Amino acid sequence: MPAITFIHPTGEHTRVEASDGESVMLAATRNGLDGILAECGGNAMCATCHVYVDDAWLARLPAIDDDEDALLDGTASDRRANSRLSCQIKLSGELDGLVLCLPERQV
Ligand code: FES
Repeated sequence: MPAITFIHPTGEHTRVEASDGESVMLAATRNGLDGILAECGGNAMCATCHVYVDDAWLARLPAIDDDEDALLDGTASDRRANSRLSCQIKLSGELDGLVLCLPERQV
């Protein structure tokens, strides 16, 4: 069962237990995490599930597809080299310990 650590803009850390195959977004919202809105419910249409991936984990994630890439250009907080949409990151044991920073705002 993968665990994810979210780092809030305040520096506070929140650890969330996820299920294999679950998206980061779903694990976050299921656990009531502040900072992920996910207005489209994970359909890659809203960009309100934006996260910054810790550099140590960036290369372990699947590549960004064209739809995610286009949406990341419309995030409320600045897009950075490590920006991803959390609904597009599917969790597995290989991502146990994943660390993600939350942006200042999602809308
Ligand atoms: S939840 Fe809408 S794009 Fe991820």
